[in-house]
Amino acid sequence: MAAQKYYKLIFVGGVSVGSFLAGSYTEKNKIWDKLLNFGVPIFTTVSAATAFSPAVSPESNVSRVSEIMKYGFPGMDNVRSFDDFVLSYDRRNRVAHWVFEHLTAEKVKRNDNVDRTKCDFKPDESIHPFFRSLNSDYKGSGYDRGHLAAAGNHKQCQQHIEQTFYLSNMAPQVGVGFNRDAWNNLEKYVRKLTKVYTNVYCCTGPLYLPRKESDGKNYVKYEVIGANHVAVPTHFYKVVVGETKDGKLEMEAFVMPNQVIDSSVPLASFQVPPESIERAAGLLFFDNLARNKFSKINGKKT
Ligand SMILES: *[C@@H]1O[C@H](CO)[C@@H](O)[C@H](O)[C@H]1NC(C)=O
Repeated sequence: MAAQKYYKLIFVGGVSVGSFLAGSYTEKNKIWDKLLNFGVPIFTTVSAATAFSPAVSPESNVSRVSEIMKYGFPGMDNVRSFDDFVLSYDRRNRVAHWVFEHLTAEKVKRNDNVDRTKCDFKPDESIHPFFRSLNSDYKGSGYDRGHLAAAGNHKQCQQHIEQTFYLSNMAPQVGVGFNRDAWNNLEKYVRKLTKVYTNVYCCTGPLYLPRKESDGKNYVKYEVIGANHVAVPTHFYKVVVGETKDGKLEMEAFVMPNQVIDSSVPLASFQVPPESIERAAGLLFFDNLARNKFSKINGKKT
């Protein structure tokens, strides 16, 4: 019965789409106008007829991916693996859902053979053009192209650092006071954890959090930039797990608002229970491990 209803729905949908395509020019224009009124972007650079063949990337290193993702994938939406990090892409917001990295002291140490200044921000051709963000989206927006997987975490070779410059690894971030300051300090803190732990696993991503408005109701409101309407997250999170040589695990979870943050605010004040990020993001972090396997969460014994 349910299957039959579903079939009918598809059939009816098919008819209306069919009549739309067969309709007159003015009818179509009315529909476009309606979509525009709802704020649906009309892309002039890409049409549905544009053929899409994702760039063929070299075989990703399965053993490296399983090393990075050892304790579970937070979600499985459009997963894309690079040589030294893995990301899940949110096509609707044109920003990743999450980016996963595995850091060791060896991987983050200074390397004079890699040159960050040679890296260019570039569109990720593996993302369908409908959902891809472009440099032009960021231009004049007032936001930085903020790395999710930090460039400084991938210094083993030039190709690794260059891959962090794909726009699929970027999100619009407030520059001065956030990307270049408080957020950068958090990234440095995570790198320093490699001095304490043998393995550091780091998951980073955006949040779009609700705010109560004057009518007393909660709304999720965020800016979108450029012709591709790239979402400007309200907040960013990092969930970090340190693993000691003898297999002890400790977790820290941070949320920072995408705004100018006073440099005197200590990092610890951005710590939140990891569950609160999971609920807000719709993701489960380090899901292969029960939470009671962690000896500490946010510095507190569990
Ligand atoms: C693949 O990953 C493993 C594990 O990190 C590493 O030892 C190996 O060198 C990598 N191979 C290539 C071709 O990068």
